[in-house]
Amino acid sequence: MIRLLAFVVGLGFLAASGCSFVNGFGTWISTETEKSIEYKYLKHAHAEEWSFSGPFGRYDNQQLQRGFRVFRDTCSGCHSLKYVAFRNLEEIDYTEAEVRAIADQWPIQVPSINPQDGAPNTRKALPSDNFPNPFPNAVAARAANNNALPPDLSLIVKAREGGADYIHALLVGYGDAPADVEVGQGLHYNPYFHGLAIAMPRPLNSDGQVTYTDGTEATVDQMARDVTAFLMWTAEPKMDTRKNVGIAVLIFLIFATILAYFAYRNVWADKKPKKKKKDEAAA
Ligand code: HEC
Repeated sequence: MIRLLAFVVGLGFLAASGCSFVNGFGTWISTETEKSIEYKYLKHAHAEEWSFSGPFGRYDNQQLQRGFRVFRDTCSGCHSLKYVAFRNLEEIDYTEAEVRAIADQWPIQVPSINPQDGAPNTRKALPSDNFPNPFPNAVAARAANNNALPPDLSLIVKAREGGADYIHALLVGYGDAPADVEVGQGLHYNPYFHGLAIAMPRPLNSDGQVTYTDGTEATVDQMARDVTAFLMWTAEPKMDTRKNVGIAVLIFLIFATILAYFAYRNVWADKKPKKKKKDEAAA
């Protein structure tokens, strides 16, 4: 009798674990198929050649100036650059007068107050101002962008996995959605963006969209590269100095190591048995 009971209980356990296995397997299968569209199409950015790659890489100010033009003419309508001031542009070889003109002609005014009655108003930008936000607040920004918030671009290169490679790939990666990808209304297919659909309309879509004055051909790829380099600079403006200091420190450490080695030889010179003398003694 006891045996039969044990058998029935064992059978019960077997049935329960069988059920949960079938259940779990079903969930696994169904979630796999749900995810697989993104797994199927999501692309990872290739490593690109940048003037600033590697320990000896430095910014190319000519390129940063072109990138600034791209930002001014295409991105600044939606994105702010709140941690960068107009006068910072002097660091990429704009003259003081040029910076003053850029700030003065900036299409978006900066918030201010009326000095007479303190009422809020706006005024032209000054070199000491940071790049203003094109929208008065996040609600207005969302309202104009299909409920998506265009992020501030000052630090975006540091804030995304893949850094500059990713930003470049995102800008040139737009395309037609494959038949099995459903792109929501007001969204745009981009295989580099998580979820495959981004609210930002393709910002760079035709060669020559931005006028370059240094003779470089303004292809879509070139503009994407230049604006990415510019955003790398806004995210890490002191990179050149950091690398220069790093190299100087390494040279110093190598020199100090050599010096320490000879000092050690000198200090221990008469404490260690001299090999030559030993040989002579043996002879
Ligand atoms: C018409 C408005 C508009 C313009 C112009 C625009 N963007 Fe955007 N951008 C957006 C919006 C909206 C988002 C948020 C997208 C989302 O979350 O789906 C965004 C997101 C981004 C992101 C973040 C992507 C991520 O991984 O989260 C980057 C980087 C970016 N934009 C760069 C640029 C650059 C560079 C330019 C200029 C070449 C530019 N954008 C021009 C509206 C714009």
